[in-house]
Amino acid sequence: MRTTTLGSEGPEVGVIGLGCMGMTSSYDMETPRDEATSIAVLHRALDLGMTLLDTADAYGPYTNEELVGKALARGHRDRAVLATKVGLLADSVEAANPGSSSPGGGRDGRPEHVRKSIDGSLRRLRTDHLDLYQLHRVDPRVPLEETWGAMAEAVAAGKVRHIGLSEATVAEIKRAQAVHPVTSVQSELSLWTRDPLAGVLPYCQEQGIAFLPFAPLGRGFLAGRFSSPGDLPRDDFRRGLPRFQRHALRANLAIAGRVREVAGRAGATPAQVALAWVLAQGRHVVPIPGTKTPRYLEDNAGAAGVELSAADLAELDALPAPQGGRY
Ligand SMILES: NC(=O)c1ccc[n+]([C@@H]2O[C@H](COP(=O)([O-])OP(=O)(O)OC[C@H]3O[C@@H](n4cnc5c(N)ncnc54)[C@H](OP(=O)(O)O)[C@@H]3O)[C@@H](O)[C@H]2O)c1
Repeated sequence: MRTTTLGSEGPEVGVIGLGCMGMTSSYDMETPRDEATSIAVLHRALDLGMTLLDTADAYGPYTNEELVGKALARGHRDRAVLATKVGLLADSVEAANPGSSSPGGGRDGRPEHVRKSIDGSLRRLRTDHLDLYQLHRVDPRVPLEETWGAMAEAVAAGKVRHIGLSEATVAEIKRAQAVHPVTSVQSELSLWTRDPLAGVLPYCQEQGIAFLPFAPLGRGFLAGRFSSPGDLPRDDFRRGLPRFQRHALRANLAIAGRVREVAGRAGATPAQVALAWVLAQGRHVVPIPGTKTPRYLEDNAGAAGVELSAADLAELDALPAPQGGRY
């Protein structure tokens, strides 16, 4: 796979990474998890050059990091660029926007929480250092400089190589930069979630900061997976998201249909078109599609070789906005 540098001074990574959340959390929780398959997916991702692996202490909680740690044990750790996150409390992983009912919106950015959490992540991931440590959400109760300062201390201590933000505003990125370089910003970006294009994404490009789109497949919708809420497993948090409610989903099918048409013309799959569009937003963009399914992983890796024509890109740029908010 083509590679790029993570931010101006970060490690080299494949231009498409792997999001690990769904291997243990959030989606389809009724189906027993097949750990061996997930580990095989992680190893195959490394073989394919999808070296950036994204997890978080909040996924599970902890079980996702444990799974990734198990997969990387016995010789695979050095093949990966290992990214995890801190600062979001487990019971609010998906309620983080616009904020859960717990104080601080389910966030904890206190320096003492950051210091304690790093050691837990290192232990579960069976490593002595993290390549990228990300603040999952800025905690409105704690000055960002304090949280970011604790993360910078971890760099100085050799526990962490680089630090990044998630779902941060340009103003927050600037505040963090004044304390310690920001290597990456992770936020939702896809054909049906374009908010970062207006400010955060171009700011990152200008500053040499990597931008890591999460949910680049619209949580599977843009890949053509779901045409009615009944297609979603019963215990699946997408059932609670506005865009997956019956009326919104029906309206949003027009978007998935257009993606499928472009895919037909481009000789690609809808998931590959969704990823190729995200990649076309800049050389600093490294999407982290999530999958626990071997054939989807191969499909997603293939997106790095898909060249969309100017006409196809223009058609995708002009897709209508979806019905329903993100969260
Ligand atoms: N920073 C944050 O706040 C935040 C929030 C959400 C997610 N994330 C990160 O971003 C990663 C990706 O986001 P996401 O997993 O929520 O959404 P996503 O990548 O947009 O979509 C994942 C869904 O798409 C399905 N899928 C994947 N590849 C496919 C393909 N080629 N064809 C058909 N279906 C396909 C997956 O199925 P299977 O799982 O069944 O294989 C899963 O249901 C997460 O794993 C996590 O690491 C971060």
